[in-house]
Amino acid sequence: MKKVNFDEYSKNYDDIMQNQHKKFGDIKYYAEYKIKILSDIVKRRNQKLKILEYGCGTGRNLPYIVEAFRESSVFGFDISKESLEVARQNNKEVKIIETNEELASYNGYFDVIFIAGVYHHIEPSLRDYVTSNIFKLAADNCNVAVFEHNPHNPLTRRMVSTCEFDKDAVLLSKKELQSIFFKAGFKDNGSAYTLFFPPVLKALSFLERFLKWLPLGGQYYIAVKKSV
Ligand SMILES: C[S@@+](CC[C@H](N)C(=O)[O-])C[C@H]1O[C@@H](n2cnc3c(N)ncnc32)[C@H](O)[C@@H]1O
Repeated sequence: MKKVNFDEYSKNYDDIMQNQHKKFGDIKYYAEYKIKILSDIVKRRNQKLKILEYGCGTGRNLPYIVEAFRESSVFGFDISKESLEVARQNNKEVKIIETNEELASYNGYFDVIFIAGVYHHIEPSLRDYVTSNIFKLAADNCNVAVFEHNPHNPLTRRMVSTCEFDKDAVLLSKKELQSIFFKAGFKDNGSAYTLFFPPVLKALSFLERFLKWLPLGGQYYIAVKKSV
C-alpha cells in the first residue's frame, strides 16, 4: 500500500477534515479535548517540562499544548516538511524539529511525548522500530500519551475508509498499541476509550468518565511511562 504523503495536504488538511466532520461540529474540539486529557495525565502543569508532539502535522494540537503547559518548552516533529512549515507559521513559540537526525540529538530529553493519529499511518512492520526510537527520546519518568482511532467503532471505520488522507491507514486496537509500547520498554500508566460524543454534543462529555471501559468510543488513548 502506498504511504500517504502529508506534504500534499499541508494547505488543506483542516478543510478536508472539517468538511468530513461537518455534521459533527467544529474540529478544534478534538485537539482541545485531547490536550485536556494529556494535562490530566501529566498533572505537573506548573513545572518547566520539555514536551514533544511526535507527528504534529500542521500543528493543530500545538496551541493547546502551549496554553495548557505555560511554563514548558514545546517541540514539534513530523516527517512531512510542508506540514511542519504550516505548523511553524502558526506556532511561533514552538521549536520545530525537521529531520530524524536532529530529533536523535534530543535522545533522553523529553518529559512528555504526545502522539495523535500517527500510528495508523505507520506501516505495521515499522511500528516497533519507530517506538524504540521514541523510547530513546524519553527522559526518565517521561509521560507518553498516544491517541488512536478505535477500530471497534463502526462510524470511525467508515470515516477512515472515506477520508482521502487515510488511504494507507491500518487501524490498530488499544491492546495492540499497548503491546508495541510495552515491548519497547514503556510501563503501563492507564488507558481509556474516548470521544463518545462529537463536538455538537459536547455538553454530554462529562459522561465519558463513566464509559472509559466501553470499546465503542470514536478513539482511545494509551498512557505509558519510562520508569527508572
Ligand atoms: C493524521 S495526521 C495527524 C497530525 C497531528 N498529530 C494531528 O493530530 O493533527 C498524521 C501525521 O503523522 C505523520 N507521520 C506518519 N508517519 C510518521 C512517522 N513515522 N514519524 C513521524 N510522523 C509521521 C504524518 O506526516 C502526518 O502529519
